[in-house]
Amino acid sequence: MRFALDRREAAQGNVDAIAVGLPGRAEKEDAFPRALAREDQAYGKLLSASWDHREIRGKRKEITTFHRPDGKGRLLLVGLGPRTGVDAETVRNAAAEAVRALKGRGARTLGFKLAAFVSEQCPPEAAVRAIVDGASLGSYEFLRYKSAHEGVVEETTVFLGDEFAREEAPLRKAMEQEEALDETVLWTRDVANVPADTATPEWLAEQARELGKELGLKVTVFDEKKLAEMQCGGILGVGGGSSHPPRLIVLEYAGGARSGKTVAVVGKGITFDSGGLSIKPAAGMSLMKFDKSGAVAVLGIVRAAATLKVPPRVIGVMACAENLPGPSAYRPGDVVRTHSGKTIEVLNTDAEGRVVLSDALGYVVERYRPDEVIDLATLTGACVVALGPDIAGLFANDEALAQGIVEASRATGESVWRLPLTDTHREMVKSEVGDVRNSTELREAGALTAAAFLETFVGKTAWAHLDIAGPAWTEPSTARFVASYLNRGATAFGVRLVTRYLQGAAR
Ligand code: BES
Ligand code: ZN
Ligand code: ZN
Repeated sequence: MRFALDRREAAQGNVDAIAVGLPGRAEKEDAFPRALAREDQAYGKLLSASWDHREIRGKRKEITTFHRPDGKGRLLLVGLGPRTGVDAETVRNAAAEAVRALKGRGARTLGFKLAAFVSEQCPPEAAVRAIVDGASLGSYEFLRYKSAHEGVVEETTVFLGDEFAREEAPLRKAMEQEEALDETVLWTRDVANVPADTATPEWLAEQARELGKELGLKVTVFDEKKLAEMQCGGILGVGGGSSHPPRLIVLEYAGGARSGKTVAVVGKGITFDSGGLSIKPAAGMSLMKFDKSGAVAVLGIVRAAATLKVPPRVIGVMACAENLPGPSAYRPGDVVRTHSGKTIEVLNTDAEGRVVLSDALGYVVERYRPDEVIDLATLTGACVVALGPDIAGLFANDEALAQGIVEASRATGESVWRLPLTDTHREMVKSEVGDVRNSTELREAGALTAAAFLETFVGKTAWAHLDIAGPAWTEPSTARFVASYLNRGATAFGVRLVTRYLQGAAR
């Protein structure tokens, strides 16, 4: 989608449709909003007529279409819900609903009246960003395997009008930045949606190499031979059952600041998680192509970091393997030795994410001595049970890092909820025969013991872990409960969140 900024009033622009936000109407409120007088005039007073008929209420997800009497324009009144609750997230959703309402309905260009999306909690710059987010993310479709598709809005214009024309320069900058970030989010969704027959560990390595060439980043791929030399018994164990061997992929972005800090971003990249010998039930197994979402998010974060030139140096690490029950699969009872020297007793081959991450975390901490490590992983079903489909679990051993991520979460709308990590959980992952065990064989605290396991491999480094098993993917069963700008399938959760964190993380 292309974006433009226009100083004029929305009604003066030459677009197929204009979108106008309408805050929820109070029970006793009877006057038609004066702010919409100009549009009402242009639409033959039909807006105020339907207001008077109480057809329009401004409820969330309420969209009413009006046609100009001369046939030369369409207007979408988009409900924003209660006036006091109109924030950036409301505007993201409203913009997404507007572009979706126009899908397959002959509108190629769409204009937004900025003034109708600005509120106390959503100042003009935030509103412009939110409109860009909603329109671009909300119109995303995964088209790689579709032979036909319906037309969607191709061009979005934000109309500043008299009220905001003077702020054109900063608003244009905000628009361009957000557009660049969202372009990466869409690119990330496209990679994450590719199924496991194509998206093998080597295919992901190829995507990383291409990205490296495009952006001038150093990319290193460790194949199974190199991983054996490096004593990465964790990732080799998990990948052992597949004919597509594992890869540890490292991308380096040098950083925009002269003496910025180094942040390592590490992702779980299981291209398919059958469970291995501890095999999963058939129902829902197809979702497990999503189990690479953490690693693909890392690819997107590095792409965004380099495109937007964030201050810190960023080391992206993708731990990629396919978890299948082939003849040389790792087994329950095996003990694997990881890069750090620590050993893992494998009690359940389906708890494979933490096993591949043990090598990735151990390697990046030893080799780069980063100031901070952030990992993203579709790690546990338990986290989805606890937090639902749209919130990631956040664990951290460092308050400043946790706080920084919570702030980035507020700004981007990508929700996180901090969960605890205590000695109880550390105790629960101790092993009888090795250093740690990959499963407690208990149902209690599944997301928390997984985090305690990972903590073993970062030592004293400041570290945050995001369990993205819920928000990484939108299933048809949960689609109506999550944000409208999240398409079916991969959401690229974490890209906007962590990039935002990196933008603010100067030193
Ligand atoms: N990839 C899954 C986590 C998952 C499961 C995400 C269901 C979304 C929905 C992970 O590898 C896994 O299988 N975890 C097990 C861990 C258990 C065996 C200790 C789980 O959550 O059941
Ligand atoms: Zn698993
Ligand atoms: Zn998994």
